[in-house]
Amino acid sequence: MSRATLDILPTPLDYSALPAEDLKARIQRKKEELNAVILGHNYQRIEIQDVSDYLGDSLGLSQEAADTSADVIVFCGVHFMAETAKVLSPGKRVLMPDPRAGCPMADFVTRDALRRLKAEHEDAAVVTYVNSTAEVKAESNVCCTSSNAVRVVESIPRDQSIIFVPDKNLAAYVADRTGRENIIAWDGYCYVHDDMVLVELDAVLQAHPDAKVVVHPEARKDLLDRADFVTSTSGMVKLAAEHDKLVIGTERGLVDSLNQQYPEKTLIPLSGAAICGNMKLNTLAKLAWSLDHERHEVVLEENIRLGAERALRRMLELSGGWSAPSAEESRLEEVGLRKSGCGCA
Ligand code: 13P
Ligand code: SF4
Repeated sequence: MSRATLDILPTPLDYSALPAEDLKARIQRKKEELNAVILGHNYQRIEIQDVSDYLGDSLGLSQEAADTSADVIVFCGVHFMAETAKVLSPGKRVLMPDPRAGCPMADFVTRDALRRLKAEHEDAAVVTYVNSTAEVKAESNVCCTSSNAVRVVESIPRDQSIIFVPDKNLAAYVADRTGRENIIAWDGYCYVHDDMVLVELDAVLQAHPDAKVVVHPEARKDLLDRADFVTSTSGMVKLAAEHDKLVIGTERGLVDSLNQQYPEKTLIPLSGAAICGNMKLNTLAKLAWSLDHERHEVVLEENIRLGAERALRRMLELSGGWSAPSAEESRLEEVGLRKSGCGCA
């Protein structure tokens, strides 16, 4: 690549005119210069997955963000994920290739609306799915992800009511698995998973009657009831390694990348229409632009960050992914001899 092609170009559109190999070389060069790490969610486009240093589900990504030694985190996912990285790593710069990549489920609940519900149920604990804003997390007792929601809810005394926001489908799944009747669920949902319906599963199973079925817990109960496994996106990646014939009920980009990884297997999307357009806003061109321009930086008010951190750390403690530093470790952190977050399992 010539020197001229390495010059910083003004807009992501200029970058999209460059060949993929040039973009990858720019990304690598700038990553080294900034000591940056690229964290990518499992729903990212395959070309983004290819350049990600870590690929995973919300829990794995938050653990990685809490523990990384990089100075800059470039987050290829949606806004709440990048925000979570900033909450857990306040000393690092967190960049998003496209700040419009939001999660519509997170927008179902606001801080003020949650405060009103809390006022109606003063003794209830608030469990907040990570697909939420930092402001909402700061109003919560503890966060959860799709892979630890049952464990998090089980950590709360059985006789205490729980306000669960914002996903009604995940709330129903957790209520079902824990046998709890005292869960007050918010009326939010994910349009990608909630749109998957039983007739689609029936049609796939008619063609592949011997296939096992795995469904994401953001889907409706009638689908979860028919699943052999209910798990997070990273749980699905593990199951694909173990099974030869699997119907996968989640965003279809994940199924496409698994099919690329295992061409000899029969991995079938439960719904061909299940696509998260928000996740797909990130492109290789925008990622290269983001690194070259060191934008778009995620910024958070410190009091909100601290509140959200408390709820997220509580979740990580329950998930074996982060342990509070001992007194000696805290002392070493204070004098700069130990990095914050080294307790990651
Ligand atoms: P996972 O944590 O299972 O990756 O889910 C995140 C998400 O947004 C699913 O729609
Ligand atoms: Fe949000 Fe659904 Fe997209 Fe996940 S798939 S990021 S929950 S809109």
